[in-house]
Amino acid sequence: MSLLVTNIGELVTWGEQPVISDAAFVVDKGTIAWVGSRLDAPAADAVNDVGGAAVIPGFVDSHSHLVFAGDRSAEFEARMTGQPYEAGGIRSTVDATRAATDEQLAANVARHLAEMRAQGTTTVEIKSGYGLTVLDESRSLAIAKQFTVETTYLGAHVVPAGTDVATYVDLVTGPMLQACAPYARWIDVFCEDGAFDADAARTILNAGMGAGLLPRVHANQLGHGPGVQVACEVGAAAADHCTYLTDDDVDALAAAGVVAGLLPGVEFSTRQPYPDARRLLGAGVTVSIATDCNPGSSYTSSMPFCIAVAVRDMNMSPREALWSATMGGAVSLKRDDVGHLTVGAKSHYAVLDAPSFVHLAYRPGVPLVANTWLDGTQFA
Ligand code: NIG
Ligand code: FE
Repeated sequence: MSLLVTNIGELVTWGEQPVISDAAFVVDKGTIAWVGSRLDAPAADAVNDVGGAAVIPGFVDSHSHLVFAGDRSAEFEARMTGQPYEAGGIRSTVDATRAATDEQLAANVARHLAEMRAQGTTTVEIKSGYGLTVLDESRSLAIAKQFTVETTYLGAHVVPAGTDVATYVDLVTGPMLQACAPYARWIDVFCEDGAFDADAARTILNAGMGAGLLPRVHANQLGHGPGVQVACEVGAAAADHCTYLTDDDVDALAAAGVVAGLLPGVEFSTRQPYPDARRLLGAGVTVSIATDCNPGSSYTSSMPFCIAVAVRDMNMSPREALWSATMGGAVSLKRDDVGHLTVGAKSHYAVLDAPSFVHLAYRPGVPLVANTWLDGTQFA
């Protein structure tokens, strides 16, 4: 059955005409079959008149850590009274995650995913990384795979207590990789002081690639470091965080075509300095925006919140930020079927309670997503 979505005040397509006023589109068999001016719209089996609202592609949240248990609000409170963020906090979530049942972990993913859907997200990447044993990493990924095809093996999140780096890297690149690869599309490593250095990160990413996984990297989050350069060397799809970048890092990202994944919720929640998106965009780097939803450094599931912060504090225009939260995420995940609303794309879109996408940044904190459509199903 075909559906005509019409009376759209402003339609963001990112196609030849990236933003169309007084627009309409037709959905047929789960994909966009026609896009254009309302007055030219063909007939369809059903009609959804959105009454002048703006419609945008569903958000592509290319970085999240939804498989976890426990709460770290006390750590957040301590940070807001002056404690620094440290990678070691991850270990407290590891303890809680190991102690949780599969059912509890799946219910937690489902709850956060429902929050995301209600805020316009239609594609989400989910990482493991709070298990750090063969069993807990593989069950984390098996759970993640129930919810998304974009699953990422992050056994190399931190070195768990009671082992040393070399022994743990052997595990991550050996038996743990074997157990996790069937459930994962991506391999990731936290390349940072206190986590994994450049050599360990290379070893881990190359092992994952040998097992058929695609590389992405947590890079340059807590200080200047080798993460971005390693990501560029191995041809990673994305270097996420990019909070501390040298000019060489920016040049390397541009030359290698690696997406710089900006995660505004992290700087917000850790009181670190915001990276300047203008510097990246000016150098020709592709920028994505994602939530990094996790209980430690960024406990938000809201892409509209991330857009608002990116506009306010990372110097992006509302249009650039929306592009990065949709198409940028799709490029980061090497997907050409999502992040845009052109003929042939998946019918993943959000109807806003607003006449323009600009309201996403103009009205921060206001629930502006009226409903989210994903493969013919309406959320919220
Ligand atoms: O992306 N950087 C490493 N991992 C997460 C933080 C995880 C945590 O603090 O629990 C991140 O920010
Ligand atoms: Fe992360």
